[in-house]
Amino acid sequence: MATTKEIALLQVFPESARVRNNRLFLGGCDCVELANKFGTPLYVFDKAALRHRCQEFKNEFGSRYPNSLVIYASKAFTSRALIKILNEEGLGLDVVSGGEMAIARQSGFPARQVYFHGNNKSEAELREAVEWGIGRVVVDNFYEIALLEKVAGERGVKQDILLRLSPGIDPHTHRLTSTGIVDSKFGFLMARAEDAVVAALKAPHLRLLGLHAHLGSPLFEVGPYQEAIPLLLNFAADMKRKHGLSLQEFSPGGGFAITYMRERPAPPVSYYAEAITACVKAQVKKLGIEEPRLILEPGRAIVGSNAIALYRVGASKDIPGIRKYVSVDGGMGDNIRPPLYEAKYEALVANRASEPATEKVTLCGKYCESGDILIKDIDLPSLSPGDVIAMPSMGAYSIPMASNYNAALKPAIVMVEGGQASLMRRRETYEDLTERDAA
Ligand SMILES: Cc1ncc(COP(=O)(O)O)c(C=O)c1O
Repeated sequence: MATTKEIALLQVFPESARVRNNRLFLGGCDCVELANKFGTPLYVFDKAALRHRCQEFKNEFGSRYPNSLVIYASKAFTSRALIKILNEEGLGLDVVSGGEMAIARQSGFPARQVYFHGNNKSEAELREAVEWGIGRVVVDNFYEIALLEKVAGERGVKQDILLRLSPGIDPHTHRLTSTGIVDSKFGFLMARAEDAVVAALKAPHLRLLGLHAHLGSPLFEVGPYQEAIPLLLNFAADMKRKHGLSLQEFSPGGGFAITYMRERPAPPVSYYAEAITACVKAQVKKLGIEEPRLILEPGRAIVGSNAIALYRVGASKDIPGIRKYVSVDGGMGDNIRPPLYEAKYEALVANRASEPATEKVTLCGKYCESGDILIKDIDLPSLSPGDVIAMPSMGAYSIPMASNYNAALKPAIVMVEGGQASLMRRRETYEDLTERDAA
């Protein structure tokens, strides 16, 4: 039987996580057996939880605002198996590069449901998008208006677009993940937004359908959305009066938080859905404009809580009176978030999941960098080589930011459900490391 403490910790794990006979199970699979079978580091997605999360987003927004579309921000993590699930669940997709677009395309995702973001899309990427018949290009700057007009013109099509605006609102999150502030490389400054609308409306091969803003990530409060939405809708109404803009679509972006640490629980999806839809409805009513289709772009909040990482414990170094380092076989190569964003995580010892914590340790990786720390100062049972560490909330922005630093092999990824594990991505091999090298 798991103790109350472990059950509390399990709240940070995906919904199918259980402790049985001192071991962590996910999707009915014993995590120690998964580590033995597939090796470590190993990323494990809870398939049912992933589907539930997609449904939760669709239902929470759709029940309040039927004319809405949830598009998954594939930068958080993308793979063929994931895209197949998202398609089955009826979500759209946000891509930010030719590569993400190629994965969507190879996975058979419908082009019309894809939104193409990015602050420096190349002419080649825009051509690929237009030729594929992509749903929307979210245009970020004046250079892109001209480039896309040229590309669409050459192809003889009229491309549907949104304009990304930078509303100058502080999302109260990490400086490196604040995007909608004035000092940001993304989107049109509000001071130039009217010029952007005029340029887009004049472009013969662009059809301006609406406006977009993404404030930052993760946002634990709805205040920044409630500030941005009226500002953007007021602007849209102004543009309607002055230039005839018909706002058919509107997106306040993504940025919804997940729980990384028990002491900082993320609000439920309903909290965001209620605040955002109420705010949009109230403002369009006040302005007397049509309700636009509402586009939500969650990335982290779809995948983040639905995967764990498994690491194997190796060496340790005790510095009396200072700290004890315990090394695992992954680290900054598969999860750069702690050194990059000071991200914090919880952990459980998968093979001794019911045992009480007896010592404070710092879990570090195996990379040749002092900053390669996964968790600083965590209370765990006394660790031995071979123990399996399970870290929750690892589904977003870890794998896609993984590197081959120190020529480390990128981890395998599996998906579990009903006691079965299926490979989503095989572990890299030494051969993969030199595959693209000239001899
Ligand atoms: C335009 C845009 N939309 C959506 C997202 C997804 O953010 P999150 O994963 O926090 O939901 C991002 C993240 O950077 C973004 O830039």
